[in-house]
Amino acid sequence: MSAQNYYTHEDFTRNFRNALGMFATGVTVVTTRAANGAPVGLTVNSFNSVSLDPPLVLWSLSVTLPSVPVFEACEYYAINVLADDQQALSQLFASRSDDKFAGLQFDQGLGGAPLLRGCCARFECRNTHRYPGGDHILFVSEVINFDREDRPPLLFFGGAYRRLAP
Ligand SMILES: Cc1cc2nc3c(=O)[nH]c(=O)nc-3n(C[C@H](O)[C@H](O)[C@H](O)COP(=O)(O)O)c2cc1C
Repeated sequence: MSAQNYYTHEDFTRNFRNALGMFATGVTVVTTRAANGAPVGLTVNSFNSVSLDPPLVLWSLSVTLPSVPVFEACEYYAINVLADDQQALSQLFASRSDDKFAGLQFDQGLGGAPLLRGCCARFECRNTHRYPGGDHILFVSEVINFDREDRPPLLFFGGAYRRLAP
């Protein structure tokens, strides 16, 4: 690998995405309620921890998505960390389906934010700070409540779902 690479714009974007994909992450579903009470959620792997005291976490939301006004306006949302048997949930919440919650059982978090069942961990967050981040909006939020279960996590690496080796 050379120290410097000079790319065309298209090559830069593709190679940048591939290089970012070398950072292995977990997979979450971020959920909230729209003003009309409808549950809203999407798959997110930009989640990360920020601060222990105060307890802060972050994630980023693409400015192109229809849920932007809902997440900007909501008081609370939930971050559901998926277990390794929840790949179908990740695919569902990464789709453009109109009713992602149909037939899905979930608990009610703060502000009615859906807390999905069978997750590794669930964080209930106050929608505290939002910052512009290029083509994404960065959400930095205070964790009000959380729970966890000892389940292996679903992972995402190199554009594909992965699991921990047994
Ligand atoms: C593994 C994975 C991670 C994702 N992470 C993010 C993310 O961090 N931020 C984001 O805005 N979209 C992310 N997406 C894309 C959204 O889940 C996708 O655009 C989804 O359709 C948005 O829901 P909506 O169409 O109902 O708005 C991710 C998708 C996948 C499969």
